[in-house]
Amino acid sequence: MNHLLSIEELNAELLNELVSSAVKLKAERGNPSSLPLAGQTWAMIFTKSSTRTRVSFEVGVRELGGSIMFLSSNDIQLGRGEPIKDTARVLGRMVHGCIIRTFAQQDVVDFSEFGNIPTINALTDEEHPCQILADLLTVKEKLGTWDDKKIVFIGDGDNNMSRSWIWAAKYLGFELVIAAPKNCQPPAEFMNKVNADNVTLTDDPVAACKNADIINTDVWLSMGQEGQAEKEALFGAYQVNSELLSHANDGHIVLHCLPAYRDKEITEEILELHANTIFQQAENRLHAQKAVLAMIAN
Ligand code: CP
Ligand code: NVA
Repeated sequence: MNHLLSIEELNAELLNELVSSAVKLKAERGNPSSLPLAGQTWAMIFTKSSTRTRVSFEVGVRELGGSIMFLSSNDIQLGRGEPIKDTARVLGRMVHGCIIRTFAQQDVVDFSEFGNIPTINALTDEEHPCQILADLLTVKEKLGTWDDKKIVFIGDGDNNMSRSWIWAAKYLGFELVIAAPKNCQPPAEFMNKVNADNVTLTDDPVAACKNADIINTDVWLSMGQEGQAEKEALFGAYQVNSELLSHANDGHIVLHCLPAYRDKEITEEILELHANTIFQQAENRLHAQKAVLAMIAN
């Protein structure tokens, strides 16, 4: 693997290998068996806000023996209109890899092609692959396996999180239900491209939650959509709350990639009840991304 641009570009073998490597790296934290990034300098270019992704990559690269610089797009010429392909051609001659958070998936693809250095998608409008790896690790830790589990994604069914989950379901074969208002479901063109019988769409959150083992949600308005009151108004019935969860299987877990907006997509009560899982999920960003970095470096 040279880059991590999307879950779409992965496969079952790579997903399983990355999660297994994350388990190992988590266990040996503080006592590493190797430093695969020794002597390397990585850059991060972020045009959107971040807490978890930024901190986990800064810590992860250092723990693997490398050094890292954070480049806010406002502070580099990219923010004044220098094209991504020129930015890539400059950084490609100076740093060993780049982690990018931005809007267009094409910018990450272009960076990987023009920079000719390992490139990691740290969230675009299209996908959030690093988060899904951490989520899979969390499922494995909490429930032992994702095989035979019913996973429900509730809320905005057509965002970076839902799309990355859909690709993961295609490759790993678990049952995934996307419960979203009709206008916020992935379009037929995308679902036809994925072509996975184990992924279904519904606008009925209660039916979706029946027999569910994992209930997963995310913000109703992703970064860049702030202030879209009309869109936000569609989600009233899709809040993850105690009534909705009463339909899920006993022993279900709740995932939220964070940041969470309490009493919008999830109630304060449910977030706190499942905080142990949700903050373990946040911590797992570090371990999952170290697995990605280690695989790319080898
Ligand atoms: N979940 C996630 O990517 O969090 P940040 O936006 O804080 O990086
Ligand atoms: N869908 C959210 C994920 C945040 C980590 C967003 O893009 O804002």
